[in-house]
Amino acid sequence: MIHLKNVYKTYGRYSKVLQGINLDIKPGEFVSIVGQSGAGKTTLVKILIGEERVDDGSVTIGGWDITRLSRREVPFLRRQIGVIFQDFKLLPRKTLAENIAFALEVSGGTNSKIKRIVPSVLKIVGLEDKANRYPGEISGGEAQRVAIARALVHQPKILLADEPTGNLDTINADEIIDLLLRINRFGTTIILVTHNREIVNRLNRRVVAMEHGSIISDQAHGKYIL
Ligand SMILES: Nc1ncnc2c1ncn2[C@@H]1O[C@H](COP(=O)(O)OP(=O)(O)OP(=O)(O)O)[C@@H](O)[C@H]1O
Ligand SMILES: [Mg+2]
Repeated sequence: MIHLKNVYKTYGRYSKVLQGINLDIKPGEFVSIVGQSGAGKTTLVKILIGEERVDDGSVTIGGWDITRLSRREVPFLRRQIGVIFQDFKLLPRKTLAENIAFALEVSGGTNSKIKRIVPSVLKIVGLEDKANRYPGEISGGEAQRVAIARALVHQPKILLADEPTGNLDTINADEIIDLLLRINRFGTTIILVTHNREIVNRLNRRVVAMEHGSIISDQAHGKYIL
């Protein structure tokens, strides 16, 4: 489903960030990507959501070559790939339900679709009773669950999570991982970027380790090796 071939990426003239990445991810996989700070993990995520272009090599998702995506095509890609970040990125002046609705509004979702989808994704993350709260009135773990709900509005085939537990304590982090596992069981491919050794070891799933822009190991039932 996701296919990267000989991907190179440089920022500006000097920093070589990805140096020949080859990676295949099948539908329904749960893959952790680990590596030290600066290894190029977030750059890889940005390439997959069309936020950065590669210098060389090719990237295809579901047979769609996104290597030279035009600006006009980016929103179409975003509807197929949900993404969550360490810092949640919720809008503080909108309620949780409005934050989620907003993701549908910007892509032209109808009112009836919004009325149908918002409660259903809030239910998946177990926050239907807090729909009318504001981001300032919930915990970090809950905020990340809202971000996950928002990432699910277009029923993406792929969910990218870049350090989703970086701002959470162990209990909340475990809850987020359990939620990702549940979403994965429904068939969504999950790509989890993480520094968290305990989480990676507990998952016992595929682990791709990066170092200086290269993949240095790729194990089906991997441990955190760095
Ligand atoms: N917009 C940018 N312009 C120039 N250099 C950048 C830019 N974004 C990232 N870099 C550099 O590219 C390298 C890889 O960055 P990236 O964010 O992909 O690393 P990462 O593996 O996600 O690290 P971390 O674990 O700290 O999040 C780093 O050396 C970083 O300084
Ligand atoms: Mg990063």
